[in-house]
Amino acid sequence: MKVELSHIYKSFGNVKANHDISMTVEAGTVYGILGENGAGKSTLSKVLSGFITKDSGKIVLDGIEVDIKTPADAICAGIGMLHQDPLDFPSLSVLDNFMAGRSTLNKKRVKTSSSRADLIRELRQLSATFGFDLPPNDRLANLTVGERQQLEILRLLSLGVKTLILDEPTTGISASQKTALFTAVKQLAADGKSIVFVSHKLEDVEELCDRLMVMRQGKVIGEAEVKGRNSNELAASLVDMMFGRELAIPAKHEINIQQTEPALVIQDLQIDGDRLSLQIDKLTVKSGEVIGLAGLEGNGQQLLLLACAGLLKPNAGKIRISDVDMTNRAYSNFLRAGIGYLPADRLQDGLIRGLSIHEHFMLRQSHSGFLINWRDTRQFANQAIETFNIRGKPSTKVERLSGGNQQRTQISLLPDRLNLLLMEQPTRGLDIESTLWIWKQMMARCEKGMMILFISSDLDEILQYSDRILVFCGGKVSEPIDAKTLTVDKLGQAIGGKFA
Ligand SMILES: Nc1ncnc2c1ncn2[C@@H]1O[C@H](COP(=O)(O)OP(=O)(O)OP(=O)(O)O)[C@@H](O)[C@H]1O
Ligand SMILES: [Mg+2]
Repeated sequence: MKVELSHIYKSFGNVKANHDISMTVEAGTVYGILGENGAGKSTLSKVLSGFITKDSGKIVLDGIEVDIKTPADAICAGIGMLHQDPLDFPSLSVLDNFMAGRSTLNKKRVKTSSSRADLIRELRQLSATFGFDLPPNDRLANLTVGERQQLEILRLLSLGVKTLILDEPTTGISASQKTALFTAVKQLAADGKSIVFVSHKLEDVEELCDRLMVMRQGKVIGEAEVKGRNSNELAASLVDMMFGRELAIPAKHEINIQQTEPALVIQDLQIDGDRLSLQIDKLTVKSGEVIGLAGLEGNGQQLLLLACAGLLKPNAGKIRISDVDMTNRAYSNFLRAGIGYLPADRLQDGLIRGLSIHEHFMLRQSHSGFLINWRDTRQFANQAIETFNIRGKPSTKVERLSGGNQQRTQISLLPDRLNLLLMEQPTRGLDIESTLWIWKQMMARCEKGMMILFISSDLDEILQYSDRILVFCGGKVSEPIDAKTLTVDKLGQAIGGKFA
């Protein structure tokens, strides 16, 4: 299906999220949309998929203008979207999620399978086509982010979608799931489907897209052909279009481990999770050190972070921080010991929907007294907005921020003084410039002694910023490995079980 958008405008108050956007996606091609955080990529995707009503402009599909007002209109017209933050139902089964939306479409006389047996058959057939493994009766919450994406893609395809919009689908999924996703996307394009691919990762865009456009502040900055271009030259021209200048990559962080005392000591730790048990005999982390936790999602990395954050009680073993035994102490003791935790799911665990940036700062300050000082907290919020370059106002509700700006808000809420920072996917959804900026700030804190333990599905990020790396596989943990001795390939192999 050929998709043409012409002169799309969409404002939220005085924010011009989309300003005169035109783009054409030919059938059987993958079209990339790149741009800094808050550029308007998700807004444009939602206009095309009916989640947002445009102010003006035309949507033309295979030469015919269509009127899309709701997601159901879009699906009837053959357009479906995989959202940046999932919209599925974690407490329902895989099959129930696969069925979602059918009754509305049936009312619109779109023919879809209806009996559960038919649907299970359809799900199995579609899964087999793409090599996915999605057990129909499992609870969705037990699936990884990558599997939930696979299911959503299959659901949209089963509803007859011919144009698929993927909004930052590669953040938070493992390398092998990314390979499976890219293979599926290429297969769909080869079958004549058109794909819109929103991303911050130049290498992903380069691998997948035929053409792309770059957006900045709601406008189209330029378009480029991707296939057949020299990789370095293309990357340089895209960074220039996105940010208007070159970006300096911060030098690798290195601490003199011999000279510092262990500040985090873990001994004989045993934690039971829902799916596996984690066992760590001994881990010592020195002040200022950065430890990367590598592994496929759900292999125990998160259990370790939660235990160190005081959010999960271990069955056995000890956690000592700066010579204080923290084992089995209350979460408030962990906070007082200067331990910060940044969760991966920012709208589920990190921020509170319905509250503004200012209200989040009020909550952060509230432990310091019974009364809230509105003036001070507003000032903190304003300062954070300026320092972290958050595109929003103190009164902006967090769910209205763009994905990357939600991440910046979450990071800006971390206490200033921390001894140990625990992070899951710290730069998920951040544009390249902000990723570099955030890590520069983190490294500066480590110079002053803060320790970091972080999980990332981006192996380059783990290798670039860690001093030592722990590899998790099936609840087993490798000895800490000096990051300098590893390459992406070696780390990939280790994740696959070689060191475990
Ligand atoms: N529902 C909304 N209400 C108010 N403002 C909004 C709403 N949705 C988006 N915006 C604003 O529109 C602008 C564009 O946001 P959008 O989510 O499209 O950016 P994006 O390019 O997807 O960014 P990111 O890379 O961070 O995901 C931002 O300034 C954002 O705050
Ligand atoms: Mg977005």
